[in-house]
Amino acid sequence: MKKTKATLKIALLTSTFLLCNLAQAVDAEAAKALARQNNCLKCHAIDKEKDGPAYHAVAEKFKGKPNAEARLIEHITSGEKAKFPDGHEEEHKVVKTSPPKDMEQIKNLVQWILSL
Ligand code: HEC
Repeated sequence: MKKTKATLKIALLTSTFLLCNLAQAVDAEAAKALARQNNCLKCHAIDKEKDGPAYHAVAEKFKGKPNAEARLIEHITSGEKAKFPDGHEEEHKVVKTSPPKDMEQIKNLVQWILSL
């Protein structure tokens, strides 16, 4: 009896763990497609600096910061000022999704950048 209970508990824990991981899995292909549609890659590359920082550098900068996701969602949805290498500032591009303002897609894009 005791053994069955323990086995059940382990099974339950394992499936909870797997479910959590599934819910958090980043869809890299969808993220890249969205970045391409939005011309993000005109100013950003994954591992080299263009007008904007390399996404590797962004992931590095935000590593371990608990508010990273919220911060970057704000960055790509608010049109806040972005500073370019030549010193001029303009509003950063606001990400467009279809349907508009689809948080799942925006979150997935940010999580992908942070995972690089
Ligand atoms: C016209 C050029 C341009 C486009 C297009 C662009 N960015 Fe940027 N991005 C920049 C610049 C310049 C910065 C640096 C801003 C700063 O440091 O003030 C930046 C910064 C960032 C950062 C880092 C923010 C931080 O707080 O460190 C992220 C993440 C980012 N961009 C994502 C995106 C995404 C996603 C897209 C597409 C929806 C995109 N960018 C499109 C120029 C661009």
